[in-house]
Amino acid sequence: MAVAGPPRAERGLAFLCFLVSCAALAGASQPSREDLDVSIGGSGGGGIGIGIGGGGGQGGSSSSSPAPSPSGPRPCDFENERLYRAYLVIQQFRQTVSCDPMDITRSWSGTDLCSSYKGFFCERPPNVTDRTIASVDFNGYMLRSDSLQSFVDSLPDLALFHANSNDFGGAVPALGGLQYFYELDLSNNRLAPAPFPADVLGLTNATFIDIRFNSFYGELPAGVFCRFPRIQAIFVNNNQFSGSLPDNIGQSPVNYLSLANNRFTGEIPRSIARNAGTLLEVLFLNNSLSGCLPYEVGLLEKATVIDAGTNRLTGTIPASFACLRKVEQLNLADNLLYGEVPDALCRLAFGRLKNLTLSGNYFTSLGSCCWDLIKEGRLNVDLNCIQWAPNQRSHEECAKFLRQPKSCPVSDYVPCRPKYSGSGEPAGAAAEEEDAAAAEYRYRTYSALHP
Ligand SMILES: *[C@@H]1O[C@H](CO)[C@@H](O)[C@H](O)[C@H]1NC(C)=O
Ligand SMILES: *[C@@H]1O[C@H](CO)[C@@H](O)[C@H](O)[C@H]1NC(C)=O
Ligand SMILES: *[C@@H]1O[C@H](CO)[C@@H](O)[C@H](O)[C@H]1NC(C)=O
Ligand SMILES: *[C@@H]1O[C@H](CO)[C@@H](O)[C@H](O)[C@H]1NC(C)=O
Repeated sequence: MAVAGPPRAERGLAFLCFLVSCAALAGASQPSREDLDVSIGGSGGGGIGIGIGGGGGQGGSSSSSPAPSPSGPRPCDFENERLYRAYLVIQQFRQTVSCDPMDITRSWSGTDLCSSYKGFFCERPPNVTDRTIASVDFNGYMLRSDSLQSFVDSLPDLALFHANSNDFGGAVPALGGLQYFYELDLSNNRLAPAPFPADVLGLTNATFIDIRFNSFYGELPAGVFCRFPRIQAIFVNNNQFSGSLPDNIGQSPVNYLSLANNRFTGEIPRSIARNAGTLLEVLFLNNSLSGCLPYEVGLLEKATVIDAGTNRLTGTIPASFACLRKVEQLNLADNLLYGEVPDALCRLAFGRLKNLTLSGNYFTSLGSCCWDLIKEGRLNVDLNCIQWAPNQRSHEECAKFLRQPKSCPVSDYVPCRPKYSGSGEPAGAAAEEEDAAAAEYRYRTYSALHP
């Protein structure tokens, strides 16, 4: 009963899309048939296996007995051979686009790929004098196609493929053979549910891997953290990944890591300490991570965002957290943490810390500086077990939790020297006044939580 609303809306949308796509197909049928003919006629000269089947296989409207089209462009009509071959690939892909509400594919005709084809961008690869298709950026185009195979993987000079918020299905194409490739964004599509795509691990020069908002499942392979020596961002949030996080997480030079909104279990690997030189933002948010909150997280001296909220982490906050001098957003809400909130942690608010969220745990006391932060709205300790603080858990709930045996070590070691006792560092960041929404978009990982 409760699900009656959304499906109806979806059907409505699908119907609209059907209408739009039919209209687009009707409008485009003449040129696209010509293009198809060319690709069939030209495949001998082009020397690449452009699929006659690929073009013809989609939809009955494509001509099944194409006549040679003398009016279609020939290789010499293009700036160079590479662009001609890209043209054939694009025309074939165009046949598979079944929905195009923004009428993007209409621009995909003619011989001027570099300036008139929407979503395609040309550049010269290293040591190559010809311009060629170097990036494809379909972000937000809402194109529907059941497969990306024989498209991006058939553009040999491609460096970037961005396809956020389209309706691409099927498997992740094998891009390992593309020697210049380094940025992959397949976020918010409807790729077929599958384990982490092994071919992506072959993209050894990747700097950006974004497959968030899809239906990937299973464990994250260890290769994610050792196969990409130049990686800057890994966004796998909002999938159905599970199992424990690979122990080698610390091997990766990643700057922005979002693991949020999956079903990861097990502990936060202690090797995270090895990310200290590079990690700027990390989201463990909303998984089922458990075990003691590791001391090593406090060693992430460059991190501005650390969010491990909504998990099953337990223990006390290690004293090492006082060393997180760059941290601006620290969220440990909705876990099973207890003990005292260290005064030294709250003192980070004299520096960069803007937002410390500890609600929904079982903390029992606060360092003296922490009380001021609550008044300033920078510390949230709702739903804990702290005497005199507002909005706390019931005595029964607290007593029940506190009676359970506790096995996490209490770590008092502070692995950095105290820097400021009162207001040492100018409260630069703290002085900036921004509204919460603007602040959220300043952080790349938090932005990645929106499709
Ligand atoms: C470019 O060509 C030069 C000379 O042939 C060669 O030494 C260099 O390694 C090449 N660079 C790349 C990136 O292929
Ligand atoms: C990565 O880049 C290097 C140098 O730019 C190149 O030699 C190598 O083939 C690339 N790797 C892949 C898998 O394309
Ligand atoms: C938290 O994760 C679960 C499981 O992946 C998901 O169903 C839920 O929507 C997530 N919550 C939020 C607020 O994103
Ligand atoms: C502080 O962080 C929490 C948890 O990430 C978030 O829900 C809240 O909106 C943030 N508050 C501000 C003012 O940024």
